Amino acid sequence: MSDVELKLLPPQGKGHTSAARIADDWYIACRSPALKPGRKQAIELLGTPIALYRGTDGAPGALLDRCPHRNVPLTTGAVVGAELQCGYHGWRFDRTGECTRVPGLCGEAAHRGRRVPSFATAERDGFVWVYATPDVEPAREPYAFPHLGEAGWHAVYDVVEADATVHAVAENALDVPHTAFLHGGLFRNDSDDRQTIEVVVRRWHDRIEAQYIGEARPEGLVGRILAPGGGEVEHYDRFILPGITEVEYKLSDRSHMVVSSALTPIRDFHTRLFTVVSFKLPLPAWLVKLVVKPIARRIFGQDKAMLALQRQSIERFGGERFVSTELDALGPGILRLLRNAERGHRAPMDAPEVKRFEMQV
Ligand code: FES
Ligand SMILES: [Fe+2]
Repeated sequence: MSDVELKLLPPQGKGHTSAARIADDWYIACRSPALKPGRKQAIELLGTPIALYRGTDGAPGALLDRCPHRNVPLTTGAVVGAELQCGYHGWRFDRTGECTRVPGLCGEAAHRGRRVPSFATAERDGFVWVYATPDVEPAREPYAFPHLGEAGWHAVYDVVEADATVHAVAENALDVPHTAFLHGGLFRNDSDDRQTIEVVVRRWHDRIEAQYIGEARPEGLVGRILAPGGGEVEHYDRFILPGITEVEYKLSDRSHMVVSSALTPIRDFHTRLFTVVSFKLPLPAWLVKLVVKPIARRIFGQDKAMLALQRQSIERFGGERFVSTELDALGPGILRLLRNAERGHRAPMDAPEVKRFEMQV
């Protein structure tokens, strides 16, 4: 008999996942030009169906996508002025969710029981934002994308999605060690003569940041575009609640780039990324715009495929069992922020919690 104990089943994940549901915050619903006056669209946020529309007055509205009358989706109907009209019996609702018309009814249309939950909306940086808790005054402002509209800065926009949690997508977007493998040649390459750099991780109540010190310009294609002449980069990776990632590279005052993504949790394992690449580079903006999108799409395609495999594997094994080292600089900290925020814990801290270590890139 062999002395190797055969186990028929792999260790099971006990149903634990990093899906988080933070409802007291803003998420991007769509880009502003995608929502035309007088039009509506069905969206989903944290698994909740929402009827998003823009009145003919230009202002957006967001109502729970369920008519209180017979529960058909309100998006079956039409926008009438500043209101949304159900497609079944024509009940109408204003932006606050108040019923304003019950066709044929002799008497007041407005009634407490005929209200639809309504979500606060905001329009900022060319995006329509929705606050994920209905019928409340928002507790905070939506995120502001850095450097938009500043002199000398340009921006490229993109919208992509992944079958993964906000946590998995955020960790992936801010994870350095995978770039040499999954994206070999585009940023970094795996090699034996890696350089040792210092990493400083700072965690506040609503964000966590990793600063990479002493990093030479990455050899891959992206590094060459950012800094054709080489040099040392200032590199920060950040996560900001409820689902913002920022990757910032700075070489000089003339060469600076921030890739910001606002992650919208459509469902626990489905996330939409609204990405803005803001840049100031010693290259013509049209040229950068021409190359950035295809490269970013190619990189993201590799990430998306890996995230889908990760998700399938987690599902197959019945939950997550992650083992981390200090090289996973932000993932565990992001999960902690998400878990605390889910419980409503976001009290400001006087000073950040700081951790330092060395890594080879
Ligand atoms: S179901 Fe909407 S008006 Fe009847
Ligand atoms: Fe990646």
